[in-house]
Amino acid sequence: MFIKGACGCLLGTMSVGSYSYLLEPRWVEIKNVTIKINALPKQFEGMTIAQMSDIHHSQYVTKEFVRKCVRKVNTLSPDIIALTGDYVYCSQNFLPSVTEELAELKAKEGVFAVLGNHDQKDSAFDALSKKGIHLLINEHIPLYRKKDYLFIAGVDDLCQGNLDLERTLRGMNDKPKILLCHNPDAIETIRNTDVDFVMAGHTHGGQVNLPLYGPPVVYSKFGNRYAAGLFYEGKTTMYVNKGIGVSVFPVRFFARPEITLFTLRNSCQFI
Ligand SMILES: [Fe+2]
Repeated sequence: MFIKGACGCLLGTMSVGSYSYLLEPRWVEIKNVTIKINALPKQFEGMTIAQMSDIHHSQYVTKEFVRKCVRKVNTLSPDIIALTGDYVYCSQNFLPSVTEELAELKAKEGVFAVLGNHDQKDSAFDALSKKGIHLLINEHIPLYRKKDYLFIAGVDDLCQGNLDLERTLRGMNDKPKILLCHNPDAIETIRNTDVDFVMAGHTHGGQVNLPLYGPPVVYSKFGNRYAAGLFYEGKTTMYVNKGIGVSVFPVRFFARPEITLFTLRNSCQFI
């Protein structure tokens, strides 16, 4: 009886191990999320943004897997693509091959990016810029459709960079503001601004998410509060994407790799 129970337990552990090591890290989920934005100009009604985050290209997150994810994003035909940091894991040697794959991303109105805590500023800026990707470090640009526009902004990383929200927002008027920000902990200050929508990553959804318990470890000073999904803070809506790759341990459990497709809608339509 004891041996039978021990064998069952061992088999269960092995299958959970195999699932979280071999299957789930490669099982990409595409999430469709509608974002309501106040006073969204009519030209931007229905605009789509595909978000990829935390690719962490490494020996565990292969070039072939990154290519597969890039193709999935392209099949969504987004108007804009947002990359929210952490392109490599541990070694910058993986940067040329990940940017080679990211160069294949296709968006009608541009690919925008910010850096994460695993990215080295100068090398990432060179590598991404050469591939036509707009790296935003504490800056914003207006995005025009006909004569109207909204702002796309990006901040430096909260932990390894010099996040300067004031500088990022300086000079903006009351047009809608969309912000790329690697670390969702920055919501602490962003929620006091008039930023409409923030796309973040960093947490990987905990990477391991235990049923009935949640993620035991989330790299955030707020614990698992901002681990993944949609959050409403003041005037700001924030979405935390679970990312593509893995860090620390090459496993995922109930925290599948994610590509998010946002559709912008004027919030007045929902009243
Ligand atoms: Fe990450």
